[in-house]
Amino acid sequence: MTRYRPTVVEVDLDAIRHNVRLLTPPDAELMAIVKADGYGLGAVPVSRAALEAGASRLGVALVEEGLSLREAGIGAPILVLTEFPPGSEKEAIEAGLTPSVYSDDGLERLAEAGRALGRPVGVHLKVDTGMHRVGVWPPEEAPAFARRILDAGLEIEGAWTHFADSERDDEGTRTQLALFRNAVDALAAEGIRPAILHAANSGATIRLPETHLDLVRPGAAVYGIDPGEGIGEAAGMRPALAWRSAVATVKRLPAGVQDGTADHAARDGAGRDPRRDERGPLAAHGPSAETYSRGTRAPMPVAIARAIVPARAASSSAVTRSSPWAPISTTSSPGATSASPQSTTT
Ligand SMILES: Cc1ncc(COP(=O)(O)O)c(C=O)c1O
Repeated sequence: MTRYRPTVVEVDLDAIRHNVRLLTPPDAELMAIVKADGYGLGAVPVSRAALEAGASRLGVALVEEGLSLREAGIGAPILVLTEFPPGSEKEAIEAGLTPSVYSDDGLERLAEAGRALGRPVGVHLKVDTGMHRVGVWPPEEAPAFARRILDAGLEIEGAWTHFADSERDDEGTRTQLALFRNAVDALAAEGIRPAILHAANSGATIRLPETHLDLVRPGAAVYGIDPGEGIGEAAGMRPALAWRSAVATVKRLPAGVQDGTADHAARDGAGRDPRRDERGPLAAHGPSAETYSRGTRAPMPVAIARAIVPARAASSSAVTRSSPWAPISTTSSPGATSASPQSTTT
């Protein structure tokens, strides 16, 4: 079908590569988290870009996500961050996916599938230290659980935990790290030494080097999504996602006239531009460097706003597509226009 709508999502794979290089610590590996279809940007191209830039592993939430990567020909180690669901064990093991384990039911199903296939199965033991999703809780239970993993005939390749709020809460993150280290020490006291210890998501990878252990596990920062309060930008992350569209219309309205678009935006919670009433409304688009897209307020780079609000917009008439591809980008990254973007219509 011919595409008429002048709107695309642009994924900058150079930015993915850049972010992975920047995030990889000198003394630890990097597992790129590509769950939820690579945070919506396309798990296959994102994974390839991350691996090209030096990521040694990939992390997914679901067996299906791992199988899709295998079907696309990606051979790198893939950790599934949850237990393999009942019935999926054999297919997942045969595809070379690595399971996380944290329940007796999960480890028994896995051990049975491994025996049936006659294959050794290496697992990553998940310890809950405060996120309180899945994982062995309390962490003191980890050695007994690890013993049951080994008794069932499985191998323990790794052990990991997940931070609850590493973007903001240094104290809480350090407490979680200490709980994890204690669990790892308790395992070692039993003679169990997983080769790969990992904990750090984006916030911890950027802010807390002591959490890096053997492997960091960033997701958001790989895509240039700021984990919080500008720390990604300060670290030099580049946004990999841009929305681009042609400007549909530009109107300058006299002060006091009804402005349905802005009113809708205010009702939808986007907030009313406080400058609107001071300066007279610039309607949806103008040198206020903002635009409204279907009632949602979005930034508009000032240079673009200036370019598309020429003198003729001073009249109340509409200017339709004064520049057919004047982009409205949610990013201000100069790198967002990759030479080899993967573009998808929205
Ligand atoms: C277990 C696990 N590790 C790492 C990540 C990556 O987290 P972030 O996107 O904060 O870097 C996630 C994402 O939710 C996760 O669930």
